[in-house]
Amino acid sequence: MHELKRVVVVGAGTMGSQIALQTALGGRHDVTLVDTVAGQLERARAQNRKLLDRSVEKGRLTKDAADAALKRIVDSKDLAAPAATADLVIEAVIENFDAKKSVFEDLGKHANEHAILASNSSTIAISRLADASGRPQLCCNMHFFHPVTVMQLCEVVRGPKTSDETVEAAMEFIRSIDRTPVLLKKEIWGFIVNRILFAASEEAMRLLEGGYASAEDIDIAVQKGLNWPMGPFHLLDFSGLDIFYGAMQDRHSTGDGPEPPEVLRKLVEEGRLGRKTGKGFFDYG
Ligand SMILES: NC(=O)c1ccc[n+]([C@@H]2O[C@H](COP(=O)([O-])OP(=O)(O)OC[C@H]3O[C@@H](n4cnc5c(N)ncnc54)[C@H](O)[C@@H]3O)[C@@H](O)[C@H]2O)c1
Repeated sequence: MHELKRVVVVGAGTMGSQIALQTALGGRHDVTLVDTVAGQLERARAQNRKLLDRSVEKGRLTKDAADAALKRIVDSKDLAAPAATADLVIEAVIENFDAKKSVFEDLGKHANEHAILASNSSTIAISRLADASGRPQLCCNMHFFHPVTVMQLCEVVRGPKTSDETVEAAMEFIRSIDRTPVLLKKEIWGFIVNRILFAASEEAMRLLEGGYASAEDIDIAVQKGLNWPMGPFHLLDFSGLDIFYGAMQDRHSTGDGPEPPEVLRKLVEEGRLGRKTGKGFFDYG
């Protein structure tokens, strides 16, 4: 198994910029960050600079190491040239099937024939994208969590055609950038973390709806009894109720999950979407 040295990240948004940064911080990889939208690469660089400055202020990183990490990320508006010499391409463009499929088609035409092609999608399993590249044995999901520089976990998802070598190399790459990989051996909606999060959140909403306990008390119970840093209702408000509602609906439409609880539907219809609108399950004033 050869080391995945040259890494290309496609999409310089919230996730892509931080995946590039985490990779650069390891100091072992050459990183190219690709985005086609004007101004996005500059925004990503400024955001990464801010993140690094904060780490330097807090004494977690030296100024030299921060500068070196940022220098190691090369910006590019073009995917074809950096992909041609890449060992690993991580797709992190918007969560839209057609956009992602078109990136995988481009990679099929331009990427180095040995390159591993990964998608950071939270919901689109790799089997839906892999064939577009013409080399599904080299494709997998690499699902990082936000913020990548803080959250240790990355879920690797094996598609039906993913080879053992691809899985091994993907897991090893994630370790090499100081994150912790887990392997989902067969594709399933929500992968591991979101399935468990959805099950717990749904149960919390059913308890609330049934009048068994208040949202405050359910959150306290989960925080103090299960040691979660945040109760499910605060977490729902933090993530955005519309996002959660949409994901539950999508899952339900595939026959794999329940209908969203009434209490959630009502809040979304009232525009109470959580922290971002100032109100959700709780009132943020
Ligand atoms: N935001 C999260 O908390 C989170 C967590 C885990 C996984 N994800 C997944 O990561 C992916 C990216 O999410 P995000 O929140 O960073 O999105 P985002 O909207 O912040 O960033 C997407 C970026 O992709 C760029 N882009 C779009 N089409 C492109 C193309 N063809 N080539 C190059 N760049 C292109 C956009 O300009 C934008 O900069 C999604 O699949 C999402 O499901 C997001």
